[in-house]
Amino acid sequence: AAPLRIALAGLGTVGAGLVRLIESNGALIASRAGRPVEIVAVSARDRSKNRGVDISGYAWEDDMTALAARSDVDVVVELVGGSDGPALATARHALKGGKALVTANKAMIAHHGLELAELAEANGVALRFEAAVAGGIPVIKGLREGAAANRIERIYGILNGTCNYILSTMEQTGRDFGEVLKEAQELGYAEADPTFDVEGVDAAHKLAILAALAFGAKIDFAAVDVGGIGRVRAADIAQAEALGYRIRLIGMADVDDQGNLFQRVQPCLVPHNNPLAAVDGPTNAVVAEGNFSGRLLFQGAGAGDGPTASAVAADLVDIARGDTGAPFSVPAAELAAFAPADAGHRTGR
Ligand code: HSE
Repeated sequence: AAPLRIALAGLGTVGAGLVRLIESNGALIASRAGRPVEIVAVSARDRSKNRGVDISGYAWEDDMTALAARSDVDVVVELVGGSDGPALATARHALKGGKALVTANKAMIAHHGLELAELAEANGVALRFEAAVAGGIPVIKGLREGAAANRIERIYGILNGTCNYILSTMEQTGRDFGEVLKEAQELGYAEADPTFDVEGVDAAHKLAILAALAFGAKIDFAAVDVGGIGRVRAADIAQAEALGYRIRLIGMADVDDQGNLFQRVQPCLVPHNNPLAAVDGPTNAVVAEGNFSGRLLFQGAGAGDGPTASAVAADLVDIARGDTGAPFSVPAAELAAFAPADAGHRTGR
């Protein structure tokens, strides 16, 4: 069968990881997808940078919109990052030109996911963003496909690997916040600008995407009440531990009795016997409560080149198999606009 031809925009941690994955698992991917998945052309800021992968066999484009316009390409993979700028221009260009788009860009989907879904549906092409939420964990597929027949009552979890790495490492070693953050950056977990990680913005991007999928809601990033871990000190962690709790940055979304959508990211005290308390390191974990499935726990690596590339490649396999369905659980035109719930006036549920 004809190969699925990929244009790859962005060769950072995840982009280089995808090149490695396709090189090493190419035969397995071809057998599962029913046809080969091949990178045809690439673009990044710096052509000559050493990324530990050989890109000499791919065509090079200096300009990402030119990359997205190539006639020898079926799918554009956007791994540039940033909610707007070149990433958004590339994404729009690809979809308007009738090419499928796969992205790991949670900021772009959180801000522009509705517009991009409308564009994809209008042009009859796939838009997929499994890697945008919780790295290697197939939580979007889990909601969109696995839990497709359920009403989701609530969704919550640990959505930022950097914060979880920092909190759990501080807890285990008593080491200093700054030192552990630096390590998370060196290990490739943190965003280029780690304030998005530490202040809860990255987790909020992912929560807004999950809430949209879980509740059939129009993505409303502005309605997420966002807090980070910047004020958590080693002493807080020790005190929580003495009381039988761990501190974890938790994103939570549910629809209250009045039909308002509650979305919040904040450091929470998690009791030792809750499964989220045992989630250490750059791991993510998402709990979804379906009305027939019951409680589902999705856990795995939430960041890093291998896991994130794995999620991107899984989207490519779906597209190679011919899945062009709506990116969210319902077509974009049917997504509902929920009013934000007032967090301060909620009664305990
Ligand atoms: N910086 C993110 C994290 C990477 O630490 O979880 C994955 O989105």
